[in-house]
Amino acid sequence: MFASLTIYTLLALNICATTAFPQYQSLAGLTREELDAVVPTLQYQPPQPPPGPLADDSTKLINDAAHPHLPLKPGDIRGPCPALNTLASHGYLPRNGIVTPVQIINAVQEALNLDNTFARFLVFSTFLVNGNPITNLMSLGGATPLTGPNPPKPATVGGLNTHNNCEGDTSMTRADAFFGNNHDFDESRFQHFVDFSNKYGAGKYNLTVATELRNFLHQDSLTRNPQFSLVSPRLFTAYGESVFPINFFIDGRQKDGQLDLTVARGFFQLMQLPPDFHRHDGSISNEGFLTVYNKYPIQPGGNAKGVNTYKVDHSSPTLFTPCQRYTDFVNKNIKALYPNPTGLLRKSINTNLQFLYEATLSDNCTQVFPYGRDY
Ligand code: HEM
Repeated sequence: MFASLTIYTLLALNICATTAFPQYQSLAGLTREELDAVVPTLQYQPPQPPPGPLADDSTKLINDAAHPHLPLKPGDIRGPCPALNTLASHGYLPRNGIVTPVQIINAVQEALNLDNTFARFLVFSTFLVNGNPITNLMSLGGATPLTGPNPPKPATVGGLNTHNNCEGDTSMTRADAFFGNNHDFDESRFQHFVDFSNKYGAGKYNLTVATELRNFLHQDSLTRNPQFSLVSPRLFTAYGESVFPINFFIDGRQKDGQLDLTVARGFFQLMQLPPDFHRHDGSISNEGFLTVYNKYPIQPGGNAKGVNTYKVDHSSPTLFTPCQRYTDFVNKNIKALYPNPTGLLRKSINTNLQFLYEATLSDNCTQVFPYGRDY
């Protein structure tokens, strides 16, 4: 406790890592290797402004000689997102899985052609709840000292694995957190993906398959997971992720919307781009998600008293209330983790909140300032 307070004070004073090192070493009780990994991250890193859209978003070769797939090294971190895992394993993101928001935006734009506004929204909303605002680092998987010393609790800085921040129930290839492991590829989940593709897509994953599989995954969690929850923000990502494999994992020269299952396994399990992979032709986001939603519209909610007790949560934003989504996320989700930030922490959070708001401009929401306006 004393150790983390001391480190935190040093951070707040913006004292450089080299000066802090001996004191940090004696107080923290970390091994030499752990210190070597952590010390470079001690200095405050101000948030960097996000990049704009690609100048040229036409399709191009992505699985190129400069970005070979390499097997994981000991300590490399991966998590629930098959796209980010894959981009790290090809070097579009740092291969150790510790990333900054700007690195993610650049990678998902360059390699997969994710729309700039959508990328900014995804990244800053995820970073604010799962990343470290002081060091500007986030783990693609679990919590790690590599993201630097944590801000005071209740902040978690838990990485993308953190349940019910962005990660949530009804994933296609990862189990619900209730069953133990919410982030590693799960073959039995993938077999549903395969079975539905065979049944509804003649062996390919497409929009019809996505629609039927999403309904199945909802029923599956409803009937097996007593703690099943599907409220904002997870409600939004669940539908988005159903169409992501179609929008992003299909080669940009292929225009039929039919995802090959070997390619799918490459992304979801092996974290590997197919040979000669070209990105989508033109930037794209969650196109198609309303088709998935409209056939089986699911209201936000969860199992209230064990399995099969789904209760609609009328207080949760829905897919059609984006401003409530933004406001609740800031005032509830972020505030719960950072009730009263001060100093550099507040400055950094406010800057990231500004970046988040700028990604919602097309929704015309009223901006909220839970920590004042200084940044
Ligand atoms: C083009 C870019 C991206 C693609 C194609 C993509 C694709 C996907 C897919 C298909 C899933 C669902 C996995 C499953 O259901 O088994 C997923 C999960 C996830 N992604 Fe991504 N993603 C992208 C960008 C991002 C970004 C920018 C972030 C945040 C920084 C992110 C964070 C997550 C998280 C936290 C999950 C876990 C959600 C869950 O299933 O519980 N992704 N992603």
